[in-house]
Amino acid sequence: MQQLVFLPDNAPFTESQRAWLNGFVAGLLGMERAQATPRATPPAAEPQVDEDFPWHDPTLALEERMKLASGRPFERQLMAAMGQLDCGQCGYLCKTYAESIAIGAEADLGKCVPGGRITAKKLKELLAHHTSAPATRPAPVAGPPIVERGYGRAAPIPARLISSAPLTAPGSEREVRHVALELDEAAPLYEPGDSLGIWPCNNPDEVELLIAILRAKGSEAVTLPDGAVISAREALGRECDLRAPSDALYALLAREAKDEADRSRLSKLAEDDSRADGLGVHDVLDALLEFPSARPSIVEFVAALGRMQPRLYSIACSQKRHPREVHLTVSVLRYEKNDRGYLGTGSGFLSEHLRPGRALSVFVQRAHAFRLPADLAAQVVMVGPGTGIAPFRAFLQERAAAGAAGRNWLFFGNHRREADFLYRTELEEFAVKRVLSRMDLAFSRDQTSKVYVQHKMLEAAQELWRWLANGAYLYVCGDAQRMAGDVDLALQQIAITQGGMDGAAAKRFLVELAKAGRYQRDVY
Ligand SMILES: Cc1cc2nc3c(=O)[nH]c(=O)nc-3n(C[C@H](O)[C@H](O)[C@H](O)COP(=O)(O)OP(=O)(O)OC[C@H]3O[C@@H](n4cnc5c(N)ncnc54)[C@H](O)[C@@H]3O)c2cc1C
Ligand SMILES: NC(=O)c1ccc[n+]([C@@H]2O[C@H](COP(=O)([O-])OP(=O)(O)OC[C@H]3O[C@@H](n4cnc5c(N)ncnc54)[C@H](OP(=O)(O)O)[C@@H]3O)[C@@H](O)[C@H]2O)c1
Repeated sequence: MQQLVFLPDNAPFTESQRAWLNGFVAGLLGMERAQATPRATPPAAEPQVDEDFPWHDPTLALEERMKLASGRPFERQLMAAMGQLDCGQCGYLCKTYAESIAIGAEADLGKCVPGGRITAKKLKELLAHHTSAPATRPAPVAGPPIVERGYGRAAPIPARLISSAPLTAPGSEREVRHVALELDEAAPLYEPGDSLGIWPCNNPDEVELLIAILRAKGSEAVTLPDGAVISAREALGRECDLRAPSDALYALLAREAKDEADRSRLSKLAEDDSRADGLGVHDVLDALLEFPSARPSIVEFVAALGRMQPRLYSIACSQKRHPREVHLTVSVLRYEKNDRGYLGTGSGFLSEHLRPGRALSVFVQRAHAFRLPADLAAQVVMVGPGTGIAPFRAFLQERAAAGAAGRNWLFFGNHRREADFLYRTELEEFAVKRVLSRMDLAFSRDQTSKVYVQHKMLEAAQELWRWLANGAYLYVCGDAQRMAGDVDLALQQIAITQGGMDGAAAKRFLVELAKAGRYQRDVY
């Protein structure tokens, strides 16, 4: 059997030490067994070559992903434009959503919530420049699969808000809330690692403002794409996306504008909305406020808006402890722009507009690969700064309820210890009860220089490496754009300093650890 090589030739070891260490790392990953499996046929006779998707990494920027997909079939370029989370919010995976668009089975380019308007714009651009037929025709894709009740956006179930309470103290720069929902009697089963999808409603004050600006009553009948007829107020409240103005909205406003300058600017925005922010248009309300001469009928207005998309939140509790409840850790998105305050649709709905006792539609979004080890004796390392703590609260509750013997180690970080130590009391209790064997904390704004979770991991490199050598499972949850990539780099650094690997081997080590299911990420 050929030995897998992780250590560079110039690592300061003798041949026998090198051979032993290479074997140790491969064994640590369970790779020797995989290697020893005889290949069934010579390569030419192999039925299918696995296709790789190098852009399928949520920590990569859009332009980088598009470069990696350049020269690939059209449907793969569309895939590279997606958010790469495979979160299921759109009802597909990144690959199947792209394939459905490529064959014309899916017309809505705005379904990728993590990718937002940047993804929608890139998809539109790719479609506009795609004149010839795809080089390789993707396998026919059916629409989103039929899903069981309670699992997936097409089959939501009712839930009721029990409470929404702040986890951050007054004075924090962020507001993060603990949201508790009650499920109905036939509650779907979820596991730690799963997310909850919620169908939000828009801010009711904003809906009334839009109706007033359009000088409408709100009771006008509008027809939804599925043929249902409801009032304009209901449609604006729960069916329409009031965040990103669609091209169709700009085109409608351009047609209706009485003012020549408004008409010209709106026509340009309908072609390319990259200058929208510069013109003071960040959301649908802005589009009406900035172009006062354009006042379409409310029926046409509703028809021109994009469709509401669900939002996902990591489930923060174990069903073993809370059989009929789901807990979420929600960071409330608030920011200022154009002299206006904006509130995130989903986070605003859960934190401000939904009252205790009121109902909402939810569904369980099962995780693909973010699962506790089946082996209760396995050790678990969790890296979850900010709202990334959510699934780990569920993990700890689950491990405690199952009486798991394996040790648990948490790296948590946030802005300030006094204001932003989410679930402090519970985590300290887990530590007292030895459910949490070790907790390393990184409060970034408590001193002049930033301290992040990866700094704590590097400080504990030797011990972390020992845990990995003992078969520990490593989980990372939270911000995809900055944190997840930096934590990955820190892990590479640890493999270099503690495992004696060079850079390439350290990267390969993490890839193999992930393939072995022992490095799992849920980042957004
Ligand atoms: C698998 C998964 C798990 C998740 N788990 C959690 C979780 O546990 N907790 C949690 O809080 N969130 C979680 N999220 C994120 C969550 O789904 C929502 O994306 C988040 O709450 C924001 O949604 P919103 O509806 O409030 O904001 P939206 O109304 O969707 O607004 C977001 C948009 O606002 C714009 N925007 C944001 N900030 C600015 C700014 N400063 N300036 C200008 N524009 C801006 C951007 O266009 C952005 O796309 C998760 C996401 C996924 C995919
Ligand atoms: N893209 C953005 O610019 C941006 C900004 C904020 C939030 N968000 C999103 O908002 C949501 C909620 O955020 P959250 O509440 O989970 O908090 P968060 O913004 O992820 O912050 C949690 C902690 O992580 C720290 N942090 C910042 N950069 C880091 C890095 N490169 N490596 C490790 N830690 C880092 C933060 O420190 P400091 O903030 O003190 O540096 C803070 O202490 C997430 O979806 C996140 O992606 C995005």
